Amino acid sequence: MQPLSIDAQTAIDLERYPILPELGDDHRALMSRIHAEIDRDGCCVLKQFLTSEAIARLVVEGDATAQYGFHNSALTNAYFGDDDDSLPVAHPRRRFYPRSNAFIPGDAFGEDSLLRTIYSWEPFTGFIKAALREDNFYPYADPLADVVINMAHEGNGFPWHFDTNNYTVTLAIQNAEVGGEFEYCPKIRTSTDENYDVVQNVLDDLHDGVTTLTLEPGDLQIFKGRYSLHRVKPLYGKRPRYVGIFSYAEIPDMVGHPRRVKTLYGKVLPIHYERQGLRADNLLD
Ligand SMILES: [Fe+2]
Repeated sequence: MQPLSIDAQTAIDLERYPILPELGDDHRALMSRIHAEIDRDGCCVLKQFLTSEAIARLVVEGDATAQYGFHNSALTNAYFGDDDDSLPVAHPRRRFYPRSNAFIPGDAFGEDSLLRTIYSWEPFTGFIKAALREDNFYPYADPLADVVINMAHEGNGFPWHFDTNNYTVTLAIQNAEVGGEFEYCPKIRTSTDENYDVVQNVLDDLHDGVTTLTLEPGDLQIFKGRYSLHRVKPLYGKRPRYVGIFSYAEIPDMVGHPRRVKTLYGKVLPIHYERQGLRADNLLD
């Protein structure tokens, strides 16, 4: 790979997105807009967050590291839970769909990676923390899961689900030739009401409250998926879909549980055993 010729500050379109607090009123206006969108929809998309030069570099990084992608597939319901045969067959908890994709792990992105350079830029972390209004917020210390690329090809899919983590920060890098739109139903459940009837309607394509987002390369998405059912629509064509995922934790030094790390990345590092027991993470889902 070519040496890195741009840094985070030039990769991010700072004129369009004044993410630095020293930019004063412009910065405050941006943060107000983000907070309002997150409060309303649990979702905020910053279109063209990155420059076209930066996007081109990230595509090169995706292509160069695709060989390290670890493929995963499973049948899953929207809750990542087990079947329950005491419920009717049409119940959302009994509806299982194939899920498959690959994660290119964080250790594929070294110091010469722009994706890692953006993730490691402290003002970027500060911006995401402020956007989410989280008090305890640190870059994830897991060298495999801190910054990854989710890679999906035609035939792969990510069906309707709720996240188990509080938020997800993703960067669109490359789309498939056709498909891959992000669909979600804002706040369809609450912490006390699963709203199964409406969830069932979504699974049956009978719900008219689905929002569809076409995320283009360079778009940054901040999404709270615990209460908003969401999916990625099927992909078509030869070109793989690349989405960068930035992960954070509520405490410093935390890494993933060895068993989960092995499932997602196909390998485990010594640090995962050494730090086993530290929790409060924000894993992928
Ligand atoms: Fe999700």
